Parts: sequence; C-alpha cells; structure tokens
Amino acid sequence: MRNGPPSGPLTRKALRSGEHPLWNLPRASLPRRPKRHIRRHRDQVPPLRHPECPEAPGAHTRAPRASTPWRRFVFLDRKDIGAATLYLGDALEILPTLAPGSVGAVLCDPPYSSGGASLSDRSRPTSAKYQSSEHRGLYPEFQGDTRDQRSYLAWSTLWLSRARMLAAPGALCAVFTDWRQLPVTSDALQCAGWVWRGVAPWDKTERGRPQLGRYRAQAEYVVWGTNGARPLKGPVAPGVFRAPIPHVKHHIAGKPVELMEGLMSIMEGPILDPFMGSGTVGLACARKGLPYIGIEVEPAYYEIALSRLEAEGKG
Ligand SMILES: C[S@@+](CC[C@H](N)C(=O)[O-])C[C@H]1O[C@@H](n2cnc3c(N)ncnc32)[C@H](O)[C@@H]1O
Repeated sequence: MRNGPPSGPLTRKALRSGEHPLWNLPRASLPRRPKRHIRRHRDQVPPLRHPECPEAPGAHTRAPRASTPWRRFVFLDRKDIGAATLYLGDALEILPTLAPGSVGAVLCDPPYSSGGASLSDRSRPTSAKYQSSEHRGLYPEFQGDTRDQRSYLAWSTLWLSRARMLAAPGALCAVFTDWRQLPVTSDALQCAGWVWRGVAPWDKTERGRPQLGRYRAQAEYVVWGTNGARPLKGPVAPGVFRAPIPHVKHHIAGKPVELMEGLMSIMEGPILDPFMGSGTVGLACARKGLPYIGIEVEPAYYEIALSRLEAEGKG
C-alpha cells in the first residue's frame, strides 16, 4: 500500500488501476456504477392502462418510464357529466395536471382533521369523530382526516398553492373549516399566496348540536381570499350564510346544496373542488349552470358524487 495523503481525481479508473493512494480500499467502499440493466428492464414493461380511459393508466405500482410524462399516471378514473369533470384520485397529484389559469374559483370542504387533540383521537374512524352513535354506519368513512396541526398546515399550504396555480387572476377561493382549524386554515391560505379577505360564518341553525352547559355547536366557517387583486364590481353576496344541515345527507360531512349555491353567487366558473365528497358543490354548479371540476380520493364517495350528478342531469 502506498503512503501519503490521497491526491489526484478520485475516479473509478484511478482506483482500479492502483494509481490512486486509495487503490486498495475494500470493494464495498468504491463508487458504484448505476445499475443500467434495471433501468433497461423497467423501460421494457408497458405502462398499465385504465380500461375506460386508454390514454390514462390505471392504478400504478411502479414509477413511470422516463420517456412518459408523469402526469399521465395520476388519476384512477375520470368522468364528464354535462359541464362537470370528476376525477378519482389524490388532489395533490391531480391538481398539477390541470391547465394553469383554467379555474374561475375554488370552493371546497377539505377534511378538517379536527376530531381530537391526541393521535388516538385523530386516528379514530371519521364516523366516530363526527357522528352520534345512532347515525354510525350510514355512510362510508372518508379519507385524509388524521393530520396534526403542523402537518395540516403543511398539507393545506401544498394543495392551496397548487390550486392557486390554476386560478385566474382575481379568482375567489373559499374553504370550509371549523372553529378548531380556523387559525391554521387562514395561515395556510396566506402561505399559499392567496390574499386573505375574510371569514364568512355558516350558521347551521338550531339543528346544530346542543351541548349541556355550553354554546350550541351551530357554526362552521368559510375562510376566503382572492388570487391577487379583485376588481370591485359584480353582485353583492351575504357575509353570513344561514342554512340547516340537510336531513338527508350523502356524506358524513355533507353540506347543504343551497349553501354552496349562495357561496358561488359571486364566483366565476369553472369552479374547482379538490375535495368533492358526495358532490354537493358539483350539484350547486349544475343548478347555477357553472362548469365544475371535482376530485375525490375515496372511491365510494366518487361513485356517490357521480350518481348524484347524473341524477341531477336527468331530473
Ligand atoms: C369534508 S368531505 C367533503 C364533503 C362534501 N362537502 C359533501 O357535501 O359531500 C372531504 C372529502 O375529501 C376527501 N379527500 C380527503 N383527502 C383527499 C385528497 N388528498 N384528495 C382528494 N380527496 C380527498 C375525503 O375522502 C372526503 O370525502
């Protein structure tokens, strides 16, 4: 073995030929070549295709080929119903595939991740968090409701940023939340670059949950902002929305359609709803004649939204 400090470029050739002082290092510590045979093999595997949408692959279990744009791999299903387009998949993946500037407004009701302060509380089924025992089992569970405050802020900032990239200048963004998540939601809206303009309470009327020795759980909130400056023109909308929780719901956290109609009275289409649930915003869009883009990750709710919108189209 040679003595003295290493000198010269540490190339594989120098190491192998013994010209470099580190020439007799054990083999495991040598720089490794990329495994070309694995890459070649991956390129030969044809991409998986979704049967109903041949240009879009279905559920995928491996990384896309280098030559294939990754954005073709992100949704599991897509349906057009009238002026509505519905996607089944994760909003964080689908949003970057939509055209920048193509959205007139964002109106949505994301999971609040609100039903508990501890990990065991948060990881309970959504029905246990948000429903009284006599109503459990009526609706499918929904997804994305287990985040703590810090991760909720990070995640909300991510999807709100991606939504803003799609929004036209001056577009409105209205996001539902509850009293616990109100501060973090307005923080996320601003972190994502929206101009925070206010909070419009949703008064759920006396159908809100009564609580012994406490104020009735009667309100939720709509945090709203705009994508930059918004001209002072157009119709005027109320600052408080009073609408009872529907007797017949299609989702654990189902909202009234008329509430959504009221909120979109000053919005331009297409309206983007990255957390479609049972499609309440889509239904309101259909009634108002506005184009709609809805995304839902839970297949059971995607199907419910599809059938509600189809029924609305027929009726
Ligand atoms: C509060 S609910 C919306 C309920 C809706 N407003 C209604 O009236 O039916 C939120 C929905 O977002 C869905 N969700 C959660 N994480 C998601 C994600 N990353 N991408 C798309 N949808 C998601 C949940 O499965 C749930 O159905």
